Amino acid sequence: MPDNRQFCLAQRPADRVNADTFALGTVPAPELQAGEALVRTLYLSLDPTNRIWITDIEQYMPPVQLGEVMRGYGIGQVVASKNPDLAPGDLVNGMLGWQDYSIACPSNPMQVLPAGLPITLPALLNVCGGTGLTAYFGLTDLGAPKAGETLLVSAASGAVGSVVGQIGKILGMRVVGITGGPEKCRHIIEDLGFDAAVDYRAADWREQLAAATPNGIDVDFENVGGQIMDAVMRRMNLHSRLVLCGLISNYNDPVPDMADFSVLLMRRITVRPFIILDYAPRFAEGAMRLAQWLMEGKLKHRETIVDGLENAPTALNRLFDGDKLGKLMLKVADPA
Ligand SMILES: NC(=O)c1ccc[n+]([C@@H]2O[C@H](COP(=O)([O-])OP(=O)(O)OC[C@H]3O[C@@H](n4cnc5c(N)ncnc54)[C@H](OP(=O)(O)O)[C@@H]3O)[C@@H](O)[C@H]2O)c1
Repeated sequence: MPDNRQFCLAQRPADRVNADTFALGTVPAPELQAGEALVRTLYLSLDPTNRIWITDIEQYMPPVQLGEVMRGYGIGQVVASKNPDLAPGDLVNGMLGWQDYSIACPSNPMQVLPAGLPITLPALLNVCGGTGLTAYFGLTDLGAPKAGETLLVSAASGAVGSVVGQIGKILGMRVVGITGGPEKCRHIIEDLGFDAAVDYRAADWREQLAAATPNGIDVDFENVGGQIMDAVMRRMNLHSRLVLCGLISNYNDPVPDMADFSVLLMRRITVRPFIILDYAPRFAEGAMRLAQWLMEGKLKHRETIVDGLENAPTALNRLFDGDKLGKLMLKVADPA
C-alpha cells in the first residue's frame, strides 16, 4: 500500500489557522474491504467553511475532532477498487480529506464525474462543484431574481460571488459586486460583465456603494457579513430579499462583528439563510445547467491553484486575506 500523507487537527485555533493547528503525518494507505475503492486525491477545494469545521461551535455538520483527518471536498481518481460501480481510472468527487488517499464506501460516498466533458478538472471543481452549486441554487431558488432588478453580491471576485454575478447577468439583472482592490474591481466588470464594482478596501467604499446602487438593492447575495452587510442592508429596498450564504468576516473572529438587524424589520426584507447541502437531491440538475453555461462560454472562471498537499494550512489563510482571485484550490497530484 502506498504512503498516505495526512493532516490531522492538532489544536483549535483561537483566530487564524497557524503552524500548530494541523499535524502532518504519514501512514500506509488503508487496505480495501469489499464494497470499497481507494481514491488518490488530485485537487482539494479550499473553502471558508474549512475554518468553521475546526471550531467547536454549533454548525451544520459535526466539527472535525482533535486527531481526526481534516475534512476536505475535492476531486480524486480511483486507483484500486472492490466496488463494481467504481473502476480504476474513474474520476470522482466527494469528501477526500486533506490526505493523499481516501476510501470511497457507503459511509463516504463519492460520485463518478462524467467522462469526456471539454471542461478542465479545476473548472469542474470550481463552477460545477460545491461553490458553483451554492451560487446557482442560492440565487435562482432563494433570490427569486427578476430581470431589471439590482443584485448586490459581496466577495464578488471569489468562487461563489463570481458565479452569482454572472448568473445574475444571464438572467438580465443589474449586477453590482463588492471586492477588495482596483484590480479585482476591474476584473469583475471587464472580464465577468458586472455593471459596477465597489472596492471595500478603499476609504470611500460606502460612497461607492451608494453611487453604484442608485435604485437601491432588490437582492443581496450575502457572503461577508459585519460592516459590509450592515451598509448593504441600508441600501436595500422595501420587500427586498437577502440570501444569507456566508459571513466570512466573522469566521476568524472570536467576537463577531454583527450588522444591525433593525433595518430588516423596517423594510420588511426577506432573509433566506441556506446551506448548499439542503440542495443535495438537486445537485445533478444544477451541475448540468452550470456545465452547459460553461461550455457555451456564458460563465467565465478563474482559479488560484496552490501546488502541494503540504501547503494546505497556509493556503487556507489566503481566503481570509483576499490573497487570490477566483476559486482557491490545492493541486495534490496529476491524474494517471
Ligand atoms: N451557505 C453555503 O452552503 C455556502 C457554500 C459555500 C460558500 N459559502 C460562503 O460563501 C462565501 C464565499 O465563499 P467562497 O468559497 O466563494 O470564498 P471566496 O469568495 O473565493 O474567498 C473568500 C473571499 O472573501 C473575501 N473576504 C474575506 N474576508 C473578508 C472581510 N473581512 N471583509 C470583506 N471581504 C472578505 C475576500 O474577498 P476579496 O478577494 O474581494 O478581498 C476573499 O477572497 C463565504 O462566506 C462562505 O462561507 C456558503
